[in-house]
Formats: sequence, structure tokens, C-alpha cells
Amino acid sequence: MPKSAVLTQAISQPPRHPIRATSSPLIEVAAIQPAPSLSSQQLASFVRQLVHDRRSWADLVEHHPERWWTRLVGTDSLDAWLITWPRDLATELHDHGDSWAAFAVVGGALTEHTALPSGRRSTRTLRPGPLGVVPPGGVHDVVNADPTPAVSVHAYSPPLRSMTYYSQSGGLLRPTRTRTPESTNGWAP
Ligand SMILES: [Fe+2]
Repeated sequence: MPKSAVLTQAISQPPRHPIRATSSPLIEVAAIQPAPSLSSQQLASFVRQLVHDRRSWADLVEHHPERWWTRLVGTDSLDAWLITWPRDLATELHDHGDSWAAFAVVGGALTEHTALPSGRRSTRTLRPGPLGVVPPGGVHDVVNADPTPAVSVHAYSPPLRSMTYYSQSGGLLRPTRTRTPESTNGWAP
């Protein structure tokens, strides 16, 4: 089976734990358990597969004066987004709530600044190839510092439900605001 077919199959699968009408309280409790989240390795593998399956996103790419995005996948276990980045557009320092994040550059380059527990920042530039992986609660900022517009694919598990933004002064991170799908029109990573 070609990888694209595997990916399509994975995306089209129904939620693993649909809520069912039942007369048994015990079964009701079991039925509403959240879908299992992917491990960081599984999420990274999913992103690699999505990047490889260009037919699932290449025709969707749009470039605009601001950062632009569209959701590629949404299941109970993960969501995935396609994002385009004009020059000098950045996200600000942020976390991904309780979600693991994995992302890959598929066009241009992105610079990632990661806030370290020591108060310092580590910086690296990602081009097509290696993935960026951020654990739950990890704080980073991503910017397109190149003159060429960048394109990237991002996935989150469990699906992204909140993002807290931070200012950093003297090595200390201070949360400034939290966005959720409920608080933000046009929710996006
Ligand atoms: Fe992020």
C-alpha cells in the first residue's frame, strides 16, 4: 500500500472512542475516555509521513503578507496544520499546553529559539529534513529569518487546546496571555 494511502486511511479513521448511548454507567464511563495520545516518536513519525505525502498538502499552500495556516488533519488523537511564513514573521515565545508538538520545514527555513530551564535560549535553523519536537510545556519562538517565504507542517497530540505566550526578562519567563479555541476566532497554532 503506498504511504499516501496509509496516511489517508489513518486520517479517515473515525474517533477510536466514540461516545455511545448505553444503559450501563460503567460502559458510559469507559466510552468517554479520551482517545490515546501519540508518543513523541509516533507524532514525529506521523509528521515525516505527512511531509512525504506531498499530494495531501502541496496544492493547499498559500502565501500572504501575514502568517497563514490551514488544518490538514483533525482527530481525537492529533491535529496537523500547514503554515506559511513571510519574512520576519514570528510566533512569540509560547507553549502548546499539554500537547506534544512536532514540526518540519518543507520550504525555505525557520529559526527556532527554545527557552531553556537555565534561563538561556538555544537557537537553531531548520530546513527541510530534521524535525523540531517540543514536549508539553516546552516554550519556543519560531521565526522566518530568511528572505524566502517558508512553509512548514505541524502536528500536536493531544490536539492543541491552548497556547500560553511569554515574555522573557533576565532569564525569567512571565506568562502574558493564554489562547484557546474558545477565546480565539480563527483558532490556529
Ligand atoms: Fe510552537
